[in-house]
Amino acid sequence: MKVLVIGGGGREHAICWRLSRSASVSQVFVTPGNPGCATEATPAVPPDNTPQGYLAVAREAGADLTIVGPEAPLVDGIVDAFREDGRLIFGPAKAAAQLEGSKIFAKKFMERANIPTARFVDAYEPEDAIAALPQFEGPVVIKADGLAAGKGVVIVEDRNEAEAVIRAMFAGALVGAAGAKVVIEEFLEGEEISFIGLADGERVAALEPSQDHKRIADNDEGPNTGGMGAYSDSRLLDAATREEIMKTVMQPVIDQFRREGTPFTGFLYAGLMMTASGPRVLEYNVRLGDPETQALLHRMDGDFGALLHGAAAGRIDEAHLSFRKDPSVCVVLAAAGYPGKVRTGDLIHGIEEAEAAGAAVFHAGTKSTPEGLVTNGGRVLGVTHSGATLPEAIRNVYASVKHIRFAGMQVRSDIGRKGLRRWPETAAS
Ligand code: AMP
Ligand code: GLY
Repeated sequence: MKVLVIGGGGREHAICWRLSRSASVSQVFVTPGNPGCATEATPAVPPDNTPQGYLAVAREAGADLTIVGPEAPLVDGIVDAFREDGRLIFGPAKAAAQLEGSKIFAKKFMERANIPTARFVDAYEPEDAIAALPQFEGPVVIKADGLAAGKGVVIVEDRNEAEAVIRAMFAGALVGAAGAKVVIEEFLEGEEISFIGLADGERVAALEPSQDHKRIADNDEGPNTGGMGAYSDSRLLDAATREEIMKTVMQPVIDQFRREGTPFTGFLYAGLMMTASGPRVLEYNVRLGDPETQALLHRMDGDFGALLHGAAAGRIDEAHLSFRKDPSVCVVLAAAGYPGKVRTGDLIHGIEEAEAAGAAVFHAGTKSTPEGLVTNGGRVLGVTHSGATLPEAIRNVYASVKHIRFAGMQVRSDIGRKGLRRWPETAAS
């Protein structure tokens, strides 16, 4: 089958990479893609970023299946447009994509479905948000309702500061129109885990757990980013906890959407806080995570194309879902200035050497020029490797990273380190 991938970041490069290694897939198309995707997939240029525009690309490519990477097309209704045209696509319809598109929708949905999450108040005026503050002790979490590319969450300890953030958010000064409504919620403590499944409308099948590193600097310091690295390690969660997450956090979403007449098909990503009283949902995304996907797909065996085709057609075939037990690590190389104003155009060296050292180097913000490959975005590359143990995977990935350089390159040196306590028998290595 021919598969069209929508998106142009590291996640989409990893999706193309995995699909191009699937027995069921004869050709992969990608739009808009990036120079890395172009080695695995045929670039297709969209006329515009509307659902109808993407539909035209899929028709032109003769795509038997379309996979959507980022959330924006899903929230815009790309799946509805494809379904009306009788074209197979894997992702949630617009109604279900609200789970990511609106924090208020998500919180009320969780309440209806009895899903464990932080206590919250939804507010439509700054005064109401401020009036709600005394209901919360300790730090308070202020979230813009709409899509804000990871910038819509502010955690504040001081009440005056909270008021200032609320006023700025409503005034559009922080994340524009996305902050016209807000959620105020209780601050939760624990370790964050990314738990991703894929759903066919009725059932949901779990991928392996993973963990993102959102801050720019080592030891989780500095400002938040889209994600500076991720690892996937089965030891992140024991069997009983996985079962609990499936029962309390994943399947209830699928069941609730079915009850409400808007079945959920697609990737379901739960951002979890593992608190002392159990897993709590921080957020749902209706897509794969970036950079979690790069680590996850590096470990994946089996026919990814057939897996997604089955799920899109309403029947997950778990025979196609298997992971190697080897942990994997993705280290993001970011451009000068990231996560602030990013400098572009710096020449990138050493990708071939990194690949020769065994890594998969996924492109995110790169551009081909007559002078060579240059930086063209905040997150530039995702160097990904596996190993028999987590320490070995970390050693392997950093041995590859050291080959790559470009002016202003930012890289964390501690991706995966938090997971080492789960490998006590390797402590001496
Ligand atoms: P979100 O976009 O909702 O996942 O929030 C972004 C980040 O803010 C999360 O990855 C957490 O690190 C943090 N966060 C969000 N909600 C909470 C909460 N209720 N308590 C503590 N941290 C939170
Ligand atoms: N890595 C976090 C996300 O994709 O939302």
